[in-house]
Amino acid sequence: SWEVTETDDNDAVLSPLREAAHLLRTTAVPVAFPTETVYGLGADATRSDAVKGIYSAKGRPSDNPLIVHVSDLSMLRGLLSPATAAAATTKTKPTNPSSLNQDQNGEQAEKDDDDDDPIPANYRPLIRRFWPGPLTILLPLPSPSPLAPEVTASQPAFGVRMPASALARSLIALTGKPLAAPSANASTRPSPTAAWHVAEDLRGRVQLVLDGGSCDVGVESTVVDGLCSPPAVLRPGGVGIEALRSCEGWEGVVKAYADHHHAGEDGDGKKGAAPRAPGMKYKHYSPRAKVVLFEAGGGERRSSGSGSGSGVEVGDVTKAAGGAVGFIRTGGWDVAGGLRHSGLRDTLLANGGEEEEGNMGFVVREGALLLVNDDGEESSQKLLDVDLGRDVKGVAHGLFGALRELDRLGADVIFVEGVSDGDDMSAAVMNRLRKAASEIRA
Ligand code: TXA
Ligand code: MG
Repeated sequence: SWEVTETDDNDAVLSPLREAAHLLRTTAVPVAFPTETVYGLGADATRSDAVKGIYSAKGRPSDNPLIVHVSDLSMLRGLLSPATAAAATTKTKPTNPSSLNQDQNGEQAEKDDDDDDPIPANYRPLIRRFWPGPLTILLPLPSPSPLAPEVTASQPAFGVRMPASALARSLIALTGKPLAAPSANASTRPSPTAAWHVAEDLRGRVQLVLDGGSCDVGVESTVVDGLCSPPAVLRPGGVGIEALRSCEGWEGVVKAYADHHHAGEDGDGKKGAAPRAPGMKYKHYSPRAKVVLFEAGGGERRSSGSGSGSGVEVGDVTKAAGGAVGFIRTGGWDVAGGLRHSGLRDTLLANGGEEEEGNMGFVVREGALLLVNDDGEESSQKLLDVDLGRDVKGVAHGLFGALRELDRLGADVIFVEGVSDGDDMSAAVMNRLRKAASEIRA
């Protein structure tokens, strides 16, 4: 047998969690918390006043529904059928070795052959494989609904996920309520993947930001609809479509999202079908700086210095004169190659500048581009260079942080190398980049 002694260390973690849970239970001002994807802005999903607080803090359009976060499967079953929740507390469950992952309480969650389970059977392979984790599923809204109507924003279904972050699940469990939580950015801004990102956008609008460090995944959850046939991906995210396709019943899952926010963006329905995840129609993920995206065509990597056509030209940079120019590199294109090999005598990409170590998986190198015009007049342009590496997971992890960091350092324009579009997380990365970009070059 063993004893739990509350040490100062426990208190250091637990007291902010307890405070956050108390605020969530007793007030209508949202609390920001980390998840493995991005920071969320949470409120008790069963209380209208609390959920309204999320929309006003974010400046979020009220027709964009929120994802409900649960700590364990019994909380989800409780939402789907209150009777099951009551019964579950009195029933002892047999141990089944071929089981779903265990929930927080060590309760066996496997109910594949159980017709009483309110979780639809087609979702069970996904839950077993991806929960807790970055996958949101749509479920029919029970009647009467235990959720505040503002959560679903008049959609017939609600979106729900069980986050992998232990901090997030602990907060939900301590609150004892499912938490509605969108990403904790101001509407249209890049999603927050560190506590300071939340503070930057929402200072004074949230009462507490739980700091869990930088988010592992860095892009939001994949949203799937298994209530329609064939099942559909409504938003690409931390779970790739190939991984979904390997699950029983999900082999034929289709993509039902558009990458360009311009499509149907003005909401007048003239520019094509309305997206089925309503959030996908809005301008999104945008830093203050103008974003120019270079699509990585056909997986072909540009060799540095080939100099023909693509890449950032010196003219791009001089047009942005006055401030700073940012580069986000992923190896898809050598966007800075056009500068290095432009043939201009005094073109200089100096990497000897200040190095800033971040916890976001990237370093910003600051250099200067010295330009000399025909009259011999010199001007210089600050260059901010971020390399996110070649691994798409690393790119996803650092992407939103890099956009914000370059904004903070004063970039007027950010040139970003895309990654080749695949069936893994690269779909999520390219989706976010295409939405953030005001210009796309092939
Ligand atoms: O990773 C994530 O999902 C993060 C963290 C905090 O969990 N949350 C997040 O929430 O990204 P948000 O609100 O920024 O994006 C939710 C997306 C939107 O595109 C929304 O339209 C869609 O999910 N969605 C939510 N509920 C829905 C519903 N009932 N029907 C259709 N789409 C829904
Ligand atoms: Mg969001």
